[in-house]
Amino acid sequence: MGVERVQEIANFSKETIPGEFIRTTYEQPALTTVQGTVLEVPVIDLSDPDEEKVVRAIVDASSNWGMFQVVNHGIPHETVRKLKEVGKAFFELPPHEKEAYAKSPGSQSLEGYGTKLQREVEGKKAWVDHLFHKIWPPSEINYQFWPKNPPSYRKNNEEYAKHMHGVVDKLFRCLSLGLGLEGNEMKEAMGGDNMVYLLKINYYPRCPRPDLALGVPAHTDMSAITILVPNDVQGLQACKDDHWYDVEYIPNALIVHIGDQVEIVSNGKYKSVLHRAKVNKEKTRISWPVFVEPPPDLEVGPHPKLVNEANPPKFESKKYSQYCFCKLNKTPK
Ligand code: OGA
Ligand code: NI
Repeated sequence: MGVERVQEIANFSKETIPGEFIRTTYEQPALTTVQGTVLEVPVIDLSDPDEEKVVRAIVDASSNWGMFQVVNHGIPHETVRKLKEVGKAFFELPPHEKEAYAKSPGSQSLEGYGTKLQREVEGKKAWVDHLFHKIWPPSEINYQFWPKNPPSYRKNNEEYAKHMHGVVDKLFRCLSLGLGLEGNEMKEAMGGDNMVYLLKINYYPRCPRPDLALGVPAHTDMSAITILVPNDVQGLQACKDDHWYDVEYIPNALIVHIGDQVEIVSNGKYKSVLHRAKVNKEKTRISWPVFVEPPPDLEVGPHPKLVNEANPPKFESKKYSQYCFCKLNKTPK
């Protein structure tokens, strides 16, 4: 207790927001976004029977943007709708019910309900609360962080996790083939069936000054890939060639981010996307990213088949847990 949730701050912020949420002019979305849809993150139809075409599209998107949207991905729309319904319902519970899932302050683990405590480099705070918990593999799940209310929370999340495997396998297969590797080699380099799926729910309350605040500041994800579904409030932005672009909301699409581990295994061919999230004046924005990650003890480095004398490794090999520790503590790579 004693932690101020952004959801509470938003309730009494009618026209202005506390100074710690006001970004510097280098970050304010109103000043730094390319206006009009000049360029768009690619949209890829995963059901296209022409696999070579799908591979080419994924390679292009992953090399140039590090982000793309997929449609006809095989996850039933109803499964996604139910995932969103229960996540939203959890955040609409009274504060004390949510606090029962709060991350304990000294905990090493990310799991639980929370608000980022430490401020960022410029001393700023992000306009968001979140809930983190693993959804796969079953042996890694800590059900203490899964809300018991609404009652269908567990069933709906388990159903989503189960349906994700098809998309995850397809994406890794295409990423692998696109590097000239065998179809299974990229997934194997990430731990194969031991990969961990970590779900985060971002809850961005209405914000009276969306021009000044950010929901999530610019970052790349540490994961291998991230698969995100948003509610219908646009807010995600991707950075390409030093410019920020809005990522269009497409009903029923999944948004795929290339994370740091895929960039590393591909020895830099695929780019981990720099992205951030805006907030909205009238509407609460909610997003459900799933970080698909190598198991913590797995050493991840450029794939041996992709490096030779002419192409030396561009990244050091590291255990995934070590990689995360270094990035979170900003120690040199
Ligand atoms: C994240 C993230 C973006 C969004 O949580 O890592 O980038 O659209 N979220 O909420
Ligand atoms: Ni992210």
